[in-house]
Amino acid sequence: MDIAVSLPELRDRRKALSGTLGLVPTMGFLHEGHLSLVRIARQRCDHVAASIYVNPTQFSPSEDLSSYPRDLERDLSLLDAEGVDLVWTPRDEDMYPEGFQTWVEVGEITKLLEGSYRPTHFRGVTTVVTKLFLAFMPDVAVFGQKDAQQALVVQRIVRDLHFPIEIIVAPIMRDSDGLALSSRNTYLSKEERHAACVLHRSLLEAEAAFHKGERNADVLRERVLSILSDEPLAKTQYVSVADPHTLEERHGKTDRVLISMAVYVGRTRLIDNMLLGMDTLAI
Ligand code: PAJ
Repeated sequence: MDIAVSLPELRDRRKALSGTLGLVPTMGFLHEGHLSLVRIARQRCDHVAASIYVNPTQFSPSEDLSSYPRDLERDLSLLDAEGVDLVWTPRDEDMYPEGFQTWVEVGEITKLLEGSYRPTHFRGVTTVVTKLFLAFMPDVAVFGQKDAQQALVVQRIVRDLHFPIEIIVAPIMRDSDGLALSSRNTYLSKEERHAACVLHRSLLEAEAAFHKGERNADVLRERVLSILSDEPLAKTQYVSVADPHTLEERHGKTDRVLISMAVYVGRTRLIDNMLLGMDTLAI
């Protein structure tokens, strides 16, 4: 497995790979969710590349940039064991050289949901993802449905800027108790970890109602909110029942929805989601 730090190093190693390339962008502290993306890329392409970079521009000053968990050595050995060919671990000065002042901004879809609570977040994500695409020039890039809005936003960039890259959205990997795997789960105390299952439980309840024929978006939203409110350690920031393509909030009858949420468990902000009435996310 080749490991590059500077951009010239990365470009050099990239050139040596012939055939198709699948890219998995990450912020490291890898878990089975990340590795599931690597396996999908491996199945689809001749070579697999990954990036490990805790991107400062997608964190607001009040967020957890400095405490974000990191373990580069472990990450590299996990990627090596998955047969990854090339990893880029840029430093801040490799990604944002002095005088940096060019941003990639996506419109309406970044203003909703996560964007309404984290107003500078997507500008950081869209800029770094564009830079990763231009650095690796992959044929395929794999993103997780765990960050559903991010996956839609990335599809929007590719469509709008004509990137010749296929975006694959991979299913959410969960622990045996249903909690969606996340690098941020390490912040949870034992009690909070137990309480955090309420996110998935609330989604399962909505799914069961949907399968029994409930199609009213407002009723589904209320069900989810009410289950979340029964957990004393959980403080809901939002629950959205939205159009799965545009992310606009739905009211009344609906056949296909993305139910998504952000919930604080203690001081840790967790997100989760589920699609009802369709299988994969696409703009
Ligand atoms: P990070 O949070 O490290 O996630 C990297 C990728 O793994 C994302 O596409 C995310 O959706 C996916 N992922 C995370 N948890 C998952 C789970 N439980 N199941 C399946 N996939 C999961 O998302 C980012 O990093 C950054 O914003 C990035 C795209 C790298 C840009 O900085």
